[in-house]
Amino acid sequence: MKENVKDVVKEKYAEIAEQNAGSCCAPGCCGPQILEISMIGDDYDKIEGHIDEADLGLGCGIPTEYADIKSGDTVLDLGSGAGNDAFIASKLAGPSGYVIGVDMTSQMIDRANINKEKFKFTNVEFRLGEIEALPVQDDSVNVILSNCVLNLVPDKIKAFSEIYRVLKPGGHFCISDVVIVGELPEGFKKSAELYAGCISGAITRDEYIGIIKQVGFAEVQIPKEKRIVIPEELYERYLSGDEKEKLLNSGFGIFSVTVKALKK
Ligand SMILES: C[S@@+](CC[C@H](N)C(=O)[O-])C[C@H]1O[C@@H](n2cnc3c(N)ncnc32)[C@H](O)[C@@H]1O
Repeated sequence: MKENVKDVVKEKYAEIAEQNAGSCCAPGCCGPQILEISMIGDDYDKIEGHIDEADLGLGCGIPTEYADIKSGDTVLDLGSGAGNDAFIASKLAGPSGYVIGVDMTSQMIDRANINKEKFKFTNVEFRLGEIEALPVQDDSVNVILSNCVLNLVPDKIKAFSEIYRVLKPGGHFCISDVVIVGELPEGFKKSAELYAGCISGAITRDEYIGIIKQVGFAEVQIPKEKRIVIPEELYERYLSGDEKEKLLNSGFGIFSVTVKALKK
């Protein structure tokens, strides 16, 4: 599964990009429909810059909430999808700011560009590229955002090293993502569908924080965390009765976290 995992992810998100907004409803994609991530709540659409067409229900938090974006900032959104958080960041950074969204799925970039034109965002640019080799200059960005994406990246050390490289000294990131506590059961681990669905690629919260510190970040904080309810359907589909029982007694959990850290 490991070798073709990025192709599976790309294929899945290309398919979603080509469907109508909000139509992701199987375990093969992230988002509240399958993971019941209620922390997103109903308030996303009340945030300035939120556009229904750009919100495909694929996020697992509201990274802009704690991102401390200031007027004039250059902001980078990793795995920008149809542009949801990039457009919110554009309002926060104002006309003197600039927002770059990067996504490896060309169909998502196309969809984001359609939204950009339709809603006349002039300070937003979408670039096709991979988080592991960002098409962005060293030391050039004030704030990095990402929403439910890094769990999908197999090489998380490379991803956070790239985040470090492109941030200006004094810049910071604010990322919402999925992490686990405990050990993923084999039945979940083996599923490519659950990888694309933001579960099987998730690492533990301790490993996640460990990588962030390892690449050099300071002042690491988790301003928001919420346990994700695992739908019964997932146990039934991927685990035997014994495995489910063992998992429920093991303290295992899946969490949506919003993590912040500073490049000194
Ligand atoms: C779960 S969706 C989230 C989209 C968006 N952040 C949102 O909240 O609507 C994941 C997105 O990350 C992109 N992606 C996954 N792995 C990536 C990688 N290694 N480099 C760049 N983009 C990636 C996918 O193409 C997809 O658009």
